[in-house]
Amino acid sequence: MRLVLMGLGVVGKAFLRMLVEKAPELRYKYGLNPTLVAVSDSRSSLYNERGLDPRTVVDWKSRKGSLSGLIDEVDLRGADLVREVEAEVLIEATPSNFRDGEPGLSHIKAALNTGKHVITANKGPLALEMPALIEMFRESGLRLLFSGTVGGGTPFVRFVRSCLIGERVLVIRGVLNGTTNYILTRMEMGISFEEALTEAQRLGYAEADPSNDIDGWDSAAKLVILSNLAMESDVTLREVEVSGIRGVEISRELLSWGKTVRLIASADKSGLRVRPEVVERTDPLAVSGAMNAVSFFTEHSGRHTLVGKGAGGEETATAILRDLVELKMSLSGVSSCS
Ligand code: HSE
Repeated sequence: MRLVLMGLGVVGKAFLRMLVEKAPELRYKYGLNPTLVAVSDSRSSLYNERGLDPRTVVDWKSRKGSLSGLIDEVDLRGADLVREVEAEVLIEATPSNFRDGEPGLSHIKAALNTGKHVITANKGPLALEMPALIEMFRESGLRLLFSGTVGGGTPFVRFVRSCLIGERVLVIRGVLNGTTNYILTRMEMGISFEEALTEAQRLGYAEADPSNDIDGWDSAAKLVILSNLAMESDVTLREVEVSGIRGVEISRELLSWGKTVRLIASADKSGLRVRPEVVERTDPLAVSGAMNAVSFFTEHSGRHTLVGKGAGGEETATAILRDLVELKMSLSGVSSCS
């Protein structure tokens, strides 16, 4: 399976490292032998139809900060690269942009127009155009997989797709942003908002533009994705009521009553919203640090809550790998749902 990888930030690099480390396992367990034929960061691209060495790419990028100077450097960029390369799968790992979805949206459309399946960890294109993209991929017979867009490596997306078959999800409530949850947890300990944000950035949880985390847009994007999937809605980011955590205070008094504040993303028949809410500290959603938690309230089987690490390069890279294995299995006629 030939891959083109767009985006070589923490997620893209972690994915390439995993391709190297897990190559024997992928071959042995799943018959998967991926060849990286093209890769691009924000400034340069590499292409070799016989395959690039992922280890060399990631080492060079880590040492030099760019791909420039490697032997397979080409002039093609962005959507032109995606269109021109001979590959079966686009891995889209550029930063999420919630204004116009670019550059990821153009990459995904270029892949669709040239017969490539897409695995995206980029939330922007789905947050803005998920219903249209799902429809276009369905019509084309190509796959669009996006486990890495919600919950890092925690399989919220896979849980909905595989484990809730035959159920109806009536309500979703979740903590979907690691950065804000980390900040709120540190504020419970008496640390200031600004100090906690700096820590979250240092730990690599925050988006390239951290206002997307703090103002609730990252949570809203993930809520759109989960809601469309679990509740069969047809919504985009424009339909979510969003308020973030700027100005939120967590008083000693509130904590002494056994309560705290969490940025809750929720969807029900009245709509989608993201806002800080007071919750009991014993609520399964009152997770600490950069953890994420989502409760699906279903028609017949009650509340299901999944908790796990919601951010991080390696965590998200495992979700991409999971999608790649699923793609391989579905193309071989094997269903990975059980
Ligand atoms: N900035 C995001 C978060 C990263 O803090 O949850 C994962 O999408």
